[in-house]
Amino acid sequence: MNNDEQPEEQDIICDCSGTTKSKIEQLIDNGADNVDAISRATGAVSGCGSCDILILEILAAKGK
Ligand code: FES
Repeated sequence: MNNDEQPEEQDIICDCSGTTKSKIEQLIDNGADNVDAISRATGAVSGCGSCDILILEILAAKGK
């Protein structure tokens, strides 16, 4: 599947920063391999922090 830039605005993982699952997957594909790296790139986890577990699940699904 090749749909890098396809907008999926309803697929928001982090409500505080508006970060989508597709954005996080894109960062992982570009080398981000932990929550910290994704947080620095997107602002995710820097608000309420409740998206932390969801990001871990996406990392795990990507084999990180
Ligand atoms: S939902 Fe991500 S920091 Fe609040």
